[in-house]
Amino acid sequence: MYILFKNCRIFNPVDRGVPCGGNNQGELAAFPDGALLVADDGRIVAIGEEHEVTKEASTLSKVKTRDMQGKCLIPGFVDPHTHMCFATRREAEFELRLAGTPYLEILKKGGGILSSVRAVAEATESELYEVTRKHALSALKSGTTTLEIKSGYGLNTESELKQLRAIGKLAREGVQDVVATFLGAHAIPLEFKNNPDEFITLVIDEMLPAVVEQGIADQCDIFCEEGVFTIEQGRRLLKAAKAQGMKVKIHADEVHDLGGAGLAAELMACSADHLLAASDENIRAMAAQGVVANLLPATAYSLRKPYARARFMIDNNLPVALATDCNPGSSYTESMPFVIGLAVLNMNMTPAEALVAATLNAAYSIGMADKVGSLDVGKQADFLTLDGDSPAILAYHAGVSPVQEVYKKGVRVV
Ligand code: NIG
Ligand code: FE
Repeated sequence: MYILFKNCRIFNPVDRGVPCGGNNQGELAAFPDGALLVADDGRIVAIGEEHEVTKEASTLSKVKTRDMQGKCLIPGFVDPHTHMCFATRREAEFELRLAGTPYLEILKKGGGILSSVRAVAEATESELYEVTRKHALSALKSGTTTLEIKSGYGLNTESELKQLRAIGKLAREGVQDVVATFLGAHAIPLEFKNNPDEFITLVIDEMLPAVVEQGIADQCDIFCEEGVFTIEQGRRLLKAAKAQGMKVKIHADEVHDLGGAGLAAELMACSADHLLAASDENIRAMAAQGVVANLLPATAYSLRKPYARARFMIDNNLPVALATDCNPGSSYTESMPFVIGLAVLNMNMTPAEALVAATLNAAYSIGMADKVGSLDVGKQADFLTLDGDSPAILAYHAGVSPVQEVYKKGVRVV
C-alpha cells in the first residue's frame, strides 16, 4: 500500500550529506505543483513534480491518493534543544526577572534550575512522564515531529535516571522521534557549591557509566557559564562522554563568553547551543570543525538579551539550527513557529534560512538527518501543511501557528 499526496506546493531543504552553511543555508527546492509518494513503512518513495511522481505511482499497485488542495507543504520541525522534562513551572521567578533580578542571580540564590531540581526530586517518574508528554504534544500541534529532550533537573544519579526513563517512555511511544540527552552537569548542586570539580568527578565516575550502561541517552551536554561550570570542567566531562561513545554538545557562551564555542570546535561536538556571547574567532573555529550552531532566540527574547549573531555565523559558513530551549526558566515555549518568527525578525535570517535551520540543520545537530529534516527518498514522511503560500507565513503571521495538518511517517497526527 502506498499513499500519493498530490496537489501540494512543496518547499524542501537540500540535503547534501552535511549541514547547510553559508549560501546553502537558505536554499530550498520548490515544487509549486508537487507530490509526495509514501510507502507503508512511512518512508518516502518519490518526491518532486506531480506529473513525475504520479507517473512513478502508476507503476505500483495499491496506491491511495490524497488531494492536498494546493496547500504549502514543508518537512516537520526538528527541535534540537529542549528541557521539557520538568515537574513544575516557575512563574514567580518570571515575575522576579521582569522586576529586574538577573537570571544567573536567581540561580546563585538557590532558585532557577535548582528550584526545578527540588521539584523533580519530589516528582514520580510517571508525573514527569505526564508533564513531558503534555509539552511534547503541544510541540506536535505546532509542527514538531522530532525533538531532543534533556535531563538536567536531577543532578544526582537517581533523579537523572528517573528523568531519562520518563523521556525514554515517551520515545518508545513513537508519536514523535525523541533524542535523549544526559545533562547531569546543568548546575552545581548546593552541597557541591564550594567544590564543583568534585561534582564533575561524580558525574564522570557515577552518573555517566550508569547512563551508558542503561543506554538511555544518546548525547551528553554541560552548561558552561560563569557561576556554573568552567571550560576545563566541560572538557573533562565531554572527553569522558566521547570516550564512552556518546555524542557531545555544550550550552556555550549563553551569557558570558567563556569560550564554550571554542571547546565545541576542539571536541568536534555535534552542536554548541545558545552562543549569544560567542567570539568571532570561536565562531570561525566551529565552522572549520563542522559543529552546528543551535540558536535559541526565544531564550534571548525571554531573558531580554541581545540575540545571537546569526548573520555573522551564516556569512562565515557556520550552519545554524534553531530550537525552542523549552524549559520552565529561560524559555517557556514549545513553538517552533514562534522561534522562526524571532529568527527572521530579530536575527535577520531569511524565512528560507530559518526553515532549513528548523528542519535539516536541526536534524544534523542531533544525529537524525539520515531519517528526518528533509523530504527525501528513504527518509520518513514527516511533514506539515501551512495556511499560507510559502514558509514566510511562519514569521509573517505572528503569534499564531499557521501549521494546519501534521503527518508523522505518512500518517496524519494533527
Ligand atoms: O538552556 N542555560 C541553562 N539551561 C537552560 C535553562 C534551564 C532553566 O532555567 O531551567 C537554558 O537556558
Ligand atoms: Fe538549554
